[in-house]
Amino acid sequence: MVSFLKNLFKPKTAPTVEVQPFGTSFEVPAGQTVLESALEHSVPFPHNCTVGTCGACKCRLVSGRVKAITDFGYVLSQKELDAGYILACQAVPQDERIVVQVPAGIEDAPPAERYRGSIVATESLTHDILRVKVELDRPLRFVAGQYASLKSAELALPRCYSFADAPEREGSRTVSFMIRKVPGGAFTEALFAGTLKGTSLTVEAPLGDFHLRTGEGPMICVAGGSGLAPLLSILEDARKKRVTRRCVLLFGARTQADLYALDQIRTIAGGWRGGFEFLPVLSAEPADSGWEGRRGMVTEYIAEALAGEADRGAEFYMCGPPVMIDRAIDVACDQGIALDSIHYDKFTDLGTAARAVAA
Ligand SMILES: Cc1cc2nc3c(=O)[nH]c(=O)nc-3n(C[C@H](O)[C@H](O)[C@H](O)COP(=O)(O)OP(=O)(O)OC[C@H]3O[C@@H](n4cnc5c(N)ncnc54)[C@H](O)[C@@H]3O)c2cc1C
Ligand code: FES
Repeated sequence: MVSFLKNLFKPKTAPTVEVQPFGTSFEVPAGQTVLESALEHSVPFPHNCTVGTCGACKCRLVSGRVKAITDFGYVLSQKELDAGYILACQAVPQDERIVVQVPAGIEDAPPAERYRGSIVATESLTHDILRVKVELDRPLRFVAGQYASLKSAELALPRCYSFADAPEREGSRTVSFMIRKVPGGAFTEALFAGTLKGTSLTVEAPLGDFHLRTGEGPMICVAGGSGLAPLLSILEDARKKRVTRRCVLLFGARTQADLYALDQIRTIAGGWRGGFEFLPVLSAEPADSGWEGRRGMVTEYIAEALAGEADRGAEFYMCGPPVMIDRAIDVACDQGIALDSIHYDKFTDLGTAARAVAA
C-alpha cells in the first residue's frame, strides 16, 4: 500500500515550475527546492534566509502540489496556508507541473548590495531594546519598511534587522536599527554585552517588500516590541511625504517601562495630515500602577482601531513576534480585511527554524 502511494505521487519526469508574473519555466532536479532551481535559472525570486525562517520567499501555489521540507506553518499563518501560500525555499514539487505566483515587489526599490559596516553607537531604549547605529563604507538607499541582513565573522548565518529611520533621498552612510535582546541569541547576547562595538559586519541591503502601498483608506499599524522600528520608518517617511490617510498605531508592550520612542511618535502624530491615533496596549502592567490606557493583548483592539472602516480600503501594516502577527492576521481577516491588504514582517529567529525542522 505504501509503495503504491509513493508511486502514485512520484512524478514521472523532472517536474517543471512556472513562476508568475515572470512567465519563466524551468525543471526542478530531484532533491532541489523550487527556490534553489529558480535561482539557478536566474529567476529574480524574492528570498533571504533560504532555511524557512524569514518568509521572504512566500508565494502562492496556483496549481500542482508541493511537499514541505519543514512545516510552512512556522512562518505562514493558517489563513495564508488556506489561501495556498507556500515557502519556495522549503517546497519540493510533487506534480509534473506546478505554477507559483510571487507577490509584486517594490517598484523603484534599489537593488540589494553588499556593504562593509561597523556598530558605532548604541542607545538603551528599554531594558531589552537598543537603538544601534551602523556606519557603512558608502551611502545606502532603501525604501521605508525594508530591512538589512547583518553578519559578523562569528555568525554562521546573517541576522535580519529592519531600518528604524526614514530613508534619505540620496542614501545614508549611517543607518539605525532597534534590536531586542533574545535570551540565548548569538548576535543579540553579544550586542548587549557590548562586545560587538567596532566589529566588522557584512551588511546586505535593502531586502524585503514591506512598504507603504498607495491606497487612500485607513492604515492600521500593529507593532510588538522591536517591531516598532520599520513602522516608525514608514510613518516618518509618510509624514514627510504628507500622506493624508487616517492612521492608527497600535503598540503592544508588557509594561509602561517597555514603551519607547514616544517623543518620535508624538512628532509623527503632530505633523500627520489625516488624523493619527496612538494606542499603546500593555499586557503585564501591574493593576495598581495608575495606567489608564488599554490593557491586554494588542490584537484585542484591532476592531476598535478599524472603527467600522474595514470596507473603506483599510490596510494593515504589522511587525513583531510571529505569534502576534498570526493572531492579528486572523482578527483582521475576521473583520473583513482581505489577505492582500495585510502586509507584515515577522521577526522570526533561528529558534523558529530549529522548531520547524524538529516538528
Ligand atoms: C525580516 C526580519 C526582520 C527583523 N527585524 C528585526 C528588528 O528590526 N529588530 C529585532 O530586534 N529583531 C528583528 N528580527 C529578528 C532578528 O533577525 C534575529 O532573529 C534576532 O535578533 C535573534 O538573533 P540572535 O542571533 O540573537 O538569536 P539566535 O541565535 O537566532 O537565536 C534565537 C533563539 O533561538 C534559539 N536557538 C538558536 N539556534 C537554535 C537551535 N539550533 N535549536 C533550538 N533553539 C535555537 C536561541 O537560544 C534563541 O533563544 C527580524 C527578523 C526578520 C526575519
Ligand atoms: S528565503 Fe524562504 S523563508 Fe527565508
